[in-house]
Amino acid sequence: MNTTTMCSLKFIALALILCAATFNLSADAADVSYDARALKIDGQRRIIISGSIHYPRSTPEMWPSLIKKAKEGGLNAIETYVFWNAHEPLYRQYDFSGNLDLLRFLKVIQDEGLYAILRIGPYVCAEWNYGGFPVWLNSIPDMTFRTENDAFMYQMKNFTTLIVDKVKEANLFASEGGPIILAQIENEYGNVIGSYGNDGKSYMNWCANFAETLDIGVPWIMCQESDAPPSMINTCNGWYCDQFSPNSNIPKMWTENWSGWYKNWGGKDPHRTAEDLAFAVARFFQYGGTLQNYYMYHGGTNFGRTAGGPYITTSYDYDAPLDEYGNLNQPKWGHLKKLHSLIMSMEKILTYGKATNKDYGGMMSSTVFEYNGTRVCFLGNANNRDAKTINFEGKSYTTPAWSVSILPDCVNVVYNTAEVNTQKSVMVKKLPLEAAPKRHYDLEWLWRSEHIEHLKTSVENSGPLKGVTYANQLLDQKLAANDTSDYLWYMTSVDINEDDPIWGEEVTVSVQCDCQILHVFFNGKHIGSKWVTNGQYNFLFERNAKLKLGTNSLSLLSVTVGLQNYGAHFDKANNGILGPVKLVAPNSLEKDLTSNKWAYKVGLNGLERRLQEVDIKHKRKWHPNVPFDRMFVWYKTTFKTPKGEDPVVLDLWGLGKGTAWVNGHDIGRYWPSFVADDNGCVSFCDYRGAYTGSKCLTNCGKSSQRWYHVPRSFLNDEDNTLVLFEEFGGNPTFISVQTVTMKSASAHAYEGNSLELSCQGRVISKVNFASFGNGTYGSLHKGSCHSPNSLSVVKQACIGKESCSIDASEQTFGPSSCDAPMKSLAVEVQC
Ligand code: GAL
Repeated sequence: MNTTTMCSLKFIALALILCAATFNLSADAADVSYDARALKIDGQRRIIISGSIHYPRSTPEMWPSLIKKAKEGGLNAIETYVFWNAHEPLYRQYDFSGNLDLLRFLKVIQDEGLYAILRIGPYVCAEWNYGGFPVWLNSIPDMTFRTENDAFMYQMKNFTTLIVDKVKEANLFASEGGPIILAQIENEYGNVIGSYGNDGKSYMNWCANFAETLDIGVPWIMCQESDAPPSMINTCNGWYCDQFSPNSNIPKMWTENWSGWYKNWGGKDPHRTAEDLAFAVARFFQYGGTLQNYYMYHGGTNFGRTAGGPYITTSYDYDAPLDEYGNLNQPKWGHLKKLHSLIMSMEKILTYGKATNKDYGGMMSSTVFEYNGTRVCFLGNANNRDAKTINFEGKSYTTPAWSVSILPDCVNVVYNTAEVNTQKSVMVKKLPLEAAPKRHYDLEWLWRSEHIEHLKTSVENSGPLKGVTYANQLLDQKLAANDTSDYLWYMTSVDINEDDPIWGEEVTVSVQCDCQILHVFFNGKHIGSKWVTNGQYNFLFERNAKLKLGTNSLSLLSVTVGLQNYGAHFDKANNGILGPVKLVAPNSLEKDLTSNKWAYKVGLNGLERRLQEVDIKHKRKWHPNVPFDRMFVWYKTTFKTPKGEDPVVLDLWGLGKGTAWVNGHDIGRYWPSFVADDNGCVSFCDYRGAYTGSKCLTNCGKSSQRWYHVPRSFLNDEDNTLVLFEEFGGNPTFISVQTVTMKSASAHAYEGNSLELSCQGRVISKVNFASFGNGTYGSLHKGSCHSPNSLSVVKQACIGKESCSIDASEQTFGPSSCDAPMKSLAVEVQC
């Protein structure tokens, strides 16, 4: 080969590389399109079973295992929102570090070989602070959120483009070889569009057109948006979406299948049964759905101040298939896994086959899918009380109430959504083994108090004080504090002389508040506090105080517990003290302070001094002999990292309300003293009938959140520092560090099937119960007869192992002497 040929070959190679780089060509680039039936990847219609995992609600160290467990659970995609206010907390100052590393999260999904769905929003709702909007948007002139408003659209465009560019640069869209097969613009705008009039409609169209210009090479979705333009896939959100019909030529997609529900401070624990969730999923596929996403698959934790609401708890467990800590929530995870693998095994036929539905009346139905001579069948019973027998193609089938049976050969039922054959796991929080012999964790506590802000002189003469701003009016807390803290001091003073009509020993301090929590100090003394317990975020505070001649100071501390995240114009909801604020004399004469000069101070003094940080040397010392039930106290201790891998939690029982930091990491707000009321819980949850967030509640009369997750990556190898800011008053000596472990597992299997049990990495130490006989299926009670070998056979098979599998048969257990037509095996083991 002569030099000229070599050179030209080199040139061609270089040109190809350049060309590939310019057009982002990648060997793995996938073509994502869709037709009326399904999403198509490289021309093939696909079933997508996806689950939401929000990256900031866990840690990068947790992501690989969460995503792996999602894959093992039968998902082929992970969905996440993008959280604008987390990434751009201050105007044009961005943060993509730590658990905000969106690209790293997407790469973990890619490494697991899963698809990704990126719901950019950037309005997300999500029980996230302010629905994901940065509060600084309010300081831009002429700003109106989520409508045809130039200022808003400009900012939305700026952030969305930034995200798309980042993702493109990392080649993460499927069109570039990445995992992302769909992207979302806005979120459930159709639910509120009516309140925005014509401008709402124009905004929605603008969103669609703008999204199109971003040229991401994969389709865009708009959820809950029935009048989305044809270029957008409109999708359904809810507990059930089988009756949803998308716009023409759009496949039937379910972006939010609510796997449970979220929890409020003072709320109870919601539970959506595995049976009902599986029923909803199976029905969706029976009626032609081809993509569904669990919202949430892993809910996780609202660290720091990320919880919205107001009043969303720090835990965002959601009763999702993976619990807050990333453990399998069994039997939900396993029952769905079986369903997923069955649905995926029928992918071709469900996406290409001809579907024939038949309605039998009485909420009974069948659907037959047929493709190239192969058939799969579904039998549905949406009756919420009774099992029903259906005569299907000459054979009779009994279908439990509120269930779907799947017959992959149209003859044999291999899965029924109401028959759970997966183990039930009982998870417990307990002291780690090394601490268990002591009753408490023996933490040594130190304390110091938080400074109470109040004016020492008349407000007219005071200032300018450090960190204090002034206004001759009461300001909305969002605008005054810019969401940099939960805490905002409103301070004023009032000069009283003997001629003053309200002068007397006593006055009533009256504060009309659009508050969540209010603490009131008069002349430096705490005179009372009030907080919302009924979901109405405004109240009137009235309390008597001693007036004095001369300058009296009034300091009001308004505390937010997450900003509203949902509803038409939710961004405009009032926050803080908007008045009137008055002093009322016993003779009813009053002094209105609403238009006084007010001094504003944002945040806690202790945070300014960085008390939560470990390495800062504090001039003033922390003291021993901690006080109890005292407001505005900082507590500090050190604790040892529990051995092993089990997730770590703090049991904060005994505390009032505040914030906790471990080694400087803000693990979120705590409020264990907020107890859920006694009514509305069930000891047995009936899976039958439509689920809502208030069905199947537990935890009545108990602390709405007692345990707080400390991800292992926040912990040091040995010693850790825990700092608390206690706002209401409590007793830190009850606090302990615990781990979340599996206590026991139980399972059932009909004769002829095998029973599987696993202690998820722990060893089975004991068999609590075993019976192969005629006991009631699903219960842990012996029937009138059973095989006498039951216990010894199970012990032999399981003890000392992490998992075991036992055939439920007379071959394994020996004769049971039961005549029952259908015997079953029931086992409970201790982990
Ligand atoms: C939906 C919303 C989600 C989440 C969900 C409830 O309306 O799109 O972001 O808030 O409700 O958990």
